[in-house]
Amino acid sequence: MIKNILVTGGLGYIGSHLCAELIKKKYNVFIIDNLSNSKISRLKKIYKITKKKPTFYNFDIKDVKKTSKVLKNKKIDLVFHLAAFKDVNESIKEPDKYYNNNIFGISNLIQAMQVSSVNNIIFSSSAVVYGECKYLPLDEKHSTMPLSPYGLTKLFGEKFLDYASVGNDKLKAISLRYFNPVGSHSSGEIGDNPDKPDNIMPLINRAAIGKKKIFQIYGSDYSSKDGTPIRDYVHVLDVVDAHILSMKKIKKFKGHSIFNIGTGKGISVLEILETYKKINTIDFKIKKIKRRKGDIPISYANVRKIYKKMKWKSKYNLKDMCQSSFEFAKKNIT
Ligand SMILES: NC(=O)c1ccc[n+]([C@@H]2O[C@H](COP(=O)([O-])OP(=O)(O)OC[C@H]3O[C@@H](n4cnc5c(N)ncnc54)[C@H](O)[C@@H]3O)[C@@H](O)[C@H]2O)c1
Repeated sequence: MIKNILVTGGLGYIGSHLCAELIKKKYNVFIIDNLSNSKISRLKKIYKITKKKPTFYNFDIKDVKKTSKVLKNKKIDLVFHLAAFKDVNESIKEPDKYYNNNIFGISNLIQAMQVSSVNNIIFSSSAVVYGECKYLPLDEKHSTMPLSPYGLTKLFGEKFLDYASVGNDKLKAISLRYFNPVGSHSSGEIGDNPDKPDNIMPLINRAAIGKKKIFQIYGSDYSSKDGTPIRDYVHVLDVVDAHILSMKKIKKFKGHSIFNIGTGKGISVLEILETYKKINTIDFKIKKIKRRKGDIPISYANVRKIYKKMKWKSKYNLKDMCQSSFEFAKKNIT
């Protein structure tokens, strides 16, 4: 039975939502996070939601000795590996930073798990592993050709798990290829608020509360219905739900399995902006500027595999995503 869980990157955006839900479900949660993209105040927020603090270790996941000690001493049953850098554009400018952190992060973690005989891992992968779409919706059999160093690090992570599970037949690994997680916890306490925002919802939030004067749309000449890029936005609480279900079902899978996590619906940037403004009855300026390097025009998931194997499907809609994001922004972005 799974009881003791390690969440790497547990104070980050998705990690903090996952930890809060795991604690609510009475699991013993241990976090390793070096605070490279999060703040210690998140622990208090998790406490505010759950009335229980997870055990927190502030160190780098690449430290095999320290990680093994936690795995052994705390008798960890399963690891959720979320700790990584995630900014696609930064990875194009500083690829080594991404190779060092994300690739050594997972390879050292696998090593620590091996020496500690921990054999269950759920890895945060990404839809960016697919690269240019050859067909839509994207299923897990689609070819993988990442367009950025960040995407490459995620593909490496998956490949490491492939080989690790071939070498160790006790290892059970699941990679979840998230499409575009957005939205916030229903408490309004935790959400996505990076220091240097690069993805859509933190940027919309800043424009909405007036911290940024204009929201910029990168590219309006794509071959989509309104010219703006199309993505599969999925509520962070749906992403968390897919993690918890994967954890419960991991024993029934052999070796390493890969699943898409999305809603299966494509939403354009203009559509998300209109919904956000309407549902939250606010307005802000929008400017269309030129395309960004590495962005693809259209991407949305085929989510049949995870439904077939685990009966998981998303529950939240675009309005929920926009509403919860604004609630979080009003409370937390100053
Ligand atoms: N948010 C998204 O849109 C998205 C999409 C697809 C995949 N993912 C993946 O999901 C995971 C979580 O994403 P997020 O949005 O919560 O990111 P995040 O940056 O908010 O959280 C990552 C956490 O990991 C920590 N961390 C990074 N490197 C570390 C290291 N070497 N040792 C210890 N801690 C470290 C950071 O301090 C941060 O708290 C990442 O692996 C990311 O690549 C995210």
